[in-house]
Amino acid sequence: MDTANPGTLVLDAADRARAAELLARFVDDYEDSVANRPILPDVDRDTLAKLLAEPFPAEGVGVEGFFADLHDRILPNSTTVAHPRFLAYVQGPPNGIAPYADAITAVLNQNCNFWQLSPAASVVERSVIQWLAGLYDLGPAAGGVLTNGGSGATKDAITTALADRRPYFRERGLQTGAPPLVLYTSEEAHRCVDKAAAILGIGLANVRHIPTDDAYRMRVDLLTEAIAADREAGLEPFCVVATAGTVTSGSIDPLGPIADLCEREDLWLHVDGAYGALFVLADSAKEQFAPMSRADSIALDPHKMLFTPYEAGALLVKDATKLRAAFAFSSSYLTIAEDDLMLDFMDYGPQLSRSFKALKVWAALRTFGIDTFREAAERCLRLARRLGERVAAEPGLELMNPVTLTAVCVRVSGRSDEEHPRLLAQLLEEGTALLGPALLNGRPGIRACVTNHRTTEADIDLIADRLATFASR
Ligand SMILES: Cc1ncc(COP(=O)(O)O)c(C=O)c1O
Repeated sequence: MDTANPGTLVLDAADRARAAELLARFVDDYEDSVANRPILPDVDRDTLAKLLAEPFPAEGVGVEGFFADLHDRILPNSTTVAHPRFLAYVQGPPNGIAPYADAITAVLNQNCNFWQLSPAASVVERSVIQWLAGLYDLGPAAGGVLTNGGSGATKDAITTALADRRPYFRERGLQTGAPPLVLYTSEEAHRCVDKAAAILGIGLANVRHIPTDDAYRMRVDLLTEAIAADREAGLEPFCVVATAGTVTSGSIDPLGPIADLCEREDLWLHVDGAYGALFVLADSAKEQFAPMSRADSIALDPHKMLFTPYEAGALLVKDATKLRAAFAFSSSYLTIAEDDLMLDFMDYGPQLSRSFKALKVWAALRTFGIDTFREAAERCLRLARRLGERVAAEPGLELMNPVTLTAVCVRVSGRSDEEHPRLLAQLLEEGTALLGPALLNGRPGIRACVTNHRTTEADIDLIADRLATFASR
């Protein structure tokens, strides 16, 4: 190692200076080259196989060696998520303060389990949660926790709903001889709902996937019927997972009527807003999220529309005492006096040791200000509408979904089901864009999802022009 302190895990001043210089250069070079990098790398399998096979060195390669590895082996085999025409899945490029916030997180290395190990971090996380809960008017008793993503947040929300429904859930689990609990969601729901039901022991046989209307929104009439039929059959409905921004089409389930039904039927209402909920920041969209004030819980993803780096999800619960009731455990080795300012976040979710995820969210909100995020959300919506309008105006293209948020699904006329994935591959190979597959009503299409603060009108027009040429051929 090029360090004057062999055998220690501390860098000396010269190494620190070199590491800082190399890091700064790495960040700058990446920023300058991001739009010109291949969106998906031409993966060098030999290099990666060697990476897997080679033993770790007994004597370290040092700071220079580490950065050389980054340049030679990691960077060329990494996906350029921040490319302006990366419009697949629901991914956002990180915001500009992210690398620095993450570096500080590592330096401070707060353990956000209980407040003594992370006093400021606890309050920072609280402030982020409080701001998020305020976006949906969840009321004074609301609380929550940052999670590793939307899937985790939905799983923890359903755990909370189970604990709320069956107070003895913790001791006896679901094996109590009571009627099976049933959960309702739509056919367009994200697979994280099924996954949570499977993990939690609810069983997929007890998850109802309610059909959707022609705009891919859950049909409340069929939901009502399904609940009645299950009660009739002696089962116990307990939870509805509605979606605010379905993963394929960006549709928003009829949240008001679903909230009415949940109230009447005494069901927990969870809203999966992992993709869509943060579009509440955009003036042109926020009205659609108003009924979320009636949700018992909400999952959302700062690592999408707040453009924080992975991982940052959030779970909000209308009555935070229910979240705590589901997750707080006492133990002899963790006895911390409660504090009314600083929370013990280990009591609000499944993790004990937790990173200071809140810093990157807080840093972004402080650095850029809320208005910048409002504008970014609005811009993504505007660009998606522009693409939707271009597609709708093109006789050879079919717009498969109403553009509610930023997902635009396109079917090219005259092209078979099998050709659509090939068109996707072609768009990528020629460097036009990385778009994703769509499957709506059993028909494949091409899906662009604008959750990218770097995308411009020119990028959208390039994609629309190219799709039009597919249609005319
Ligand atoms: C509607 C919806 N729910 C859940 C998720 C999962 O979120 P995460 O990847 O953060 O777990 C996604 C991801 O795109 C999504 O679109």
